[in-house]
Amino acid sequence: MKNAINRQIVLAARPVGEIGQDVLRLVERPVPKLAEGEALVRNQILSIDPTNRIWMNEEDSYLPAVQIGEIMRGITAGQVVESRSDLLKPGDLVTGLGGYADYWVGQGQLMTKLPGGVSLEASLSVFGHIGLTAYFGLLEVGKAASGETVVVSAGAGATGSLVGQIAKIKGCRVVATVGTEEKRRWVVEQLGFDQAIVHRANPDLRRSLELACPSGIDVFFDNVGGEVLDAALSNLALYGRVVLCGAISQYNNPGEWGPKNYGELVVKRGRMEGFIVMDYHARAAEAFAALSLWLKEGRLQYRAEVIEGLENAPLALQKLFRGENRGKLLVRISS
Ligand SMILES: NC(=O)c1ccc[n+]([C@@H]2O[C@H](COP(=O)([O-])OP(=O)(O)OC[C@H]3O[C@@H](n4cnc5c(N)ncnc54)[C@H](OP(=O)(O)O)[C@@H]3O)[C@@H](O)[C@H]2O)c1
Repeated sequence: MKNAINRQIVLAARPVGEIGQDVLRLVERPVPKLAEGEALVRNQILSIDPTNRIWMNEEDSYLPAVQIGEIMRGITAGQVVESRSDLLKPGDLVTGLGGYADYWVGQGQLMTKLPGGVSLEASLSVFGHIGLTAYFGLLEVGKAASGETVVVSAGAGATGSLVGQIAKIKGCRVVATVGTEEKRRWVVEQLGFDQAIVHRANPDLRRSLELACPSGIDVFFDNVGGEVLDAALSNLALYGRVVLCGAISQYNNPGEWGPKNYGELVVKRGRMEGFIVMDYHARAAEAFAALSLWLKEGRLQYRAEVIEGLENAPLALQKLFRGENRGKLLVRISS
């Protein structure tokens, strides 16, 4: 790759609140030479994830903070174009933390080869971090069981839409909170959820959930936090479980996050538990076998929205925080 230019989006400033125009900057750098054990990947698709916002903060989270001037961390799928790693050869399709960039140079062992027959889009929408999060979050952390009522927030999103469908497959009654009427119709009419509530501009979400879940919420799979979490806590069933997957409504909030009414956990003998998908990577094959079967059987669907051009990645990330994505949000870097 002599003289090839690598466009990279770097963290130029730490956001305070929402991600402003000054936070991410596009720079051009040469593609570095490969060291022993490394491979060069042409990134094709970038996954835009709410957690990207967390990585921009100064404090380390479950991963170290991205430093000012560093390439913005992001999950990508792409093709190996050169290799000095015994594990990979040119042409292999891989995923991993390839970053907001045209090219990714890294050690071969940090790149995961895609199984045959899995498209790059499917790898980032189902057969990767999103599928594992939905599968293990619902079944291992939430312990959802047949006959129970499951509520999932951001239920039309990448993770939430899989959670609701897996819960249906397992025989649960499923209610989602979603941001728009279009999303409400999609999850009920296309995905078979029992009910969905539009949370935006809802004057009394607590009451809407009470009406939708007359015997209470056995499992609340929370992607959103804030007021939605408070409303769900108020409707928890006896021995209800709250799966803390994420809290996107709070990621731009520099202050302390709720919840306000955690006393409900005492009264209902409830349990609230957080998890990070990385903890389940060793068991990926188990989840992917189930997800793959359900896809083949037509019992599971996903939708992905692809935005063209690496240069549009910052705009894509902002879209996610306005709820403007329809399904898994991806950016096409190259074809
Ligand atoms: N624990 C883990 O290991 C792990 C792994 C992956 C993802 N996550 C978390 O899972 C959640 C969903 O991630 P995803 O990638 O699947 O994204 P997504 O649900 O596809 O997209 C985010 C959605 O969040 C909703 N949203 C955005 N701002 C909101 C606000 N202020 N209040 C309420 N809802 C808001 C919007 O949906 P509406 O239009 O429906 O409001 C938006 O479409 C995030 O919290 C993420 O951090 C956690």
